[in-house]
Amino acid sequence: MEKIVSLCKRRGFIYQSSEIYGGCGGVWDYGPLGAELKRNLRSAWWNTMTREREDVLGLDASILMNPAIWKASGHVDTFADLMRECSLTNKRVRADHVDPQDGVVMKYSGATSPTGWRWDRVVSALMKNGEHIESFRKRIRALIAQNAGESAGKPEEIELLNEEKIDAVNGSVDFHPETGGALGEARPFNLMLKTYLGPTATEADVTYLRPETAQAIFAQFKNVFDSSRVKVPFGIGQIGKAFRNEVTPKNFTFRSREFEQMELEFFIKPDEAVEIISGEVAAWSEGADLSEPQPNWGWELWHRYWVDQRTKFYQGIGLGDVLEYYWQTPADLAHYARACVDILCEFPFGTEELEGIAARGDFDLSAHQTASTKSQEIFDEELKTAAAKLTDEQKEALIQKRLAAEAAKTKGEPLPEPAVRAWFERLFKGSYVPHVIEPSAGLDRMALAVLAKAFSETEKVDEKGKKEIITVLHLHPRVAPIKVGVFPLLKNKPELVAKAREVYALLKKHMNCFYDETASIGRRYARQDEVGTPFGVTIDFDSLGEKGPELLDTVTLRHRDSGEQERVKISDLLGKLLPLVS
Ligand code: GAP
Repeated sequence: MEKIVSLCKRRGFIYQSSEIYGGCGGVWDYGPLGAELKRNLRSAWWNTMTREREDVLGLDASILMNPAIWKASGHVDTFADLMRECSLTNKRVRADHVDPQDGVVMKYSGATSPTGWRWDRVVSALMKNGEHIESFRKRIRALIAQNAGESAGKPEEIELLNEEKIDAVNGSVDFHPETGGALGEARPFNLMLKTYLGPTATEADVTYLRPETAQAIFAQFKNVFDSSRVKVPFGIGQIGKAFRNEVTPKNFTFRSREFEQMELEFFIKPDEAVEIISGEVAAWSEGADLSEPQPNWGWELWHRYWVDQRTKFYQGIGLGDVLEYYWQTPADLAHYARACVDILCEFPFGTEELEGIAARGDFDLSAHQTASTKSQEIFDEELKTAAAKLTDEQKEALIQKRLAAEAAKTKGEPLPEPAVRAWFERLFKGSYVPHVIEPSAGLDRMALAVLAKAFSETEKVDEKGKKEIITVLHLHPRVAPIKVGVFPLLKNKPELVAKAREVYALLKKHMNCFYDETASIGRRYARQDEVGTPFGVTIDFDSLGEKGPELLDTVTLRHRDSGEQERVKISDLLGKLLPLVS
């Protein structure tokens, strides 16, 4: 991971935000190559998920929204991590991010210093196995001094009061992983970043930077539906910034406080509507054909379909062989969710979530319908016509099936019978609130995943026996920031330079290219390999026709991963490269 972080800085992929002022925790900036990489990933997602499909539309909503949205969605009340606070430093840590530690617990009744400063707090801290008592005390004094500020004076002059050796502990999760200070009770900590909208900056003006892009899609569902002549099933996709005050941002960009999400809300009919229209809801089984959506698909097949589609997407950007899937168990699932699968990816620090795909029922739209009192129902003529053909017994059978399902619920409150009957009454008239399948991916995580997957280092020994580490980023051509390096063999031959410039100008209009005439050709190839450029084009004396007219206006095309070199006519170059990089 350190090597990837270092390469990212050295070659302009990712920098620490505000670095000249000591950084800004959990926030990152993308340099020239990182910006291109992200842009390519963003376009790959947008094209695959919206432009290339007839059933998905795009949205670009604002980051700031009416705070009522976050109340209705449940974020104000429940979007929280359980946190514990260090008794020495007040530093917080996520309760589930504390690894077990061994050592001896030391206790103090407080601290004083010659400046007259006094700290009356009973604290305990973990002296780790192997840590010398004097270095432990020094560390504790430094932490206390840091927290107390100037009034405590020099750390080495702080006196720790009434030291007691309490106990030896093994595998304890009750001490802060960095400071060793005893942790307090776990308390919920809301992850939304608060801000004020309006000039008074009072509580009445509080709103939040969005913690996910999804809610704007739900809030605009009716506008999109009414203005776009679409029918359910259809989806709305959005890419944009999201903000979370993560307690422990970590692993480079993996868990950041400002990041970008790429989310699709795919709206489907409730299964009961599918059953009324199609006579049955198709059941999923291993090996089911997921290639073409069918009218008799219920939520389960749609959910499987999107897992399959997203897997194909990751295969298309070179991540196919590093994916794993975690199907959440009924105990993991939120009460409204029917299924959720996490697509996991191998990162240098472990296998972690890249994307979540959830079947969320009608929870979100219904919550906004209740809170806003604006109907989120759609009308479905086909459903109304099909329902009109049902007998009363058939209708009652559908109601009884749903009542039995409600009674069997193990999470959340079952819907009372009058509410179930009222819902069916609306359904038989053709009206319902759509259900949703939500594939939700993080752009920054995706960029980190492709960088980690692409990174390779090999040791090479040159002719003089000198060892050199060669770094290559095997980025998929579709996502690589620079697609082609263009190199005149020599920079002091105006004819070579002129032709190379011509090739550069030809390609540049269609893809991001890099022109380089400095250093040896091998060195120039190596520089581009290090940033993942998949192709190199060299203009040599053959290109000028010096070895015969048949080679005039041809170039050497070098392939990064195979090292293969082929002779290609300049007039064929674009046609050959474009399909490989887009
Ligand atoms: N609307 C559903 C939702 O937001 P999530 O699992 O909280 O679900 C979806 O987030 C994706 O967003 C994650 O799989 C991850 O890729 C990305 N993500 C979430 N929190 C992130 C963070 N702090 N830093 C970077 N990416 C994050």
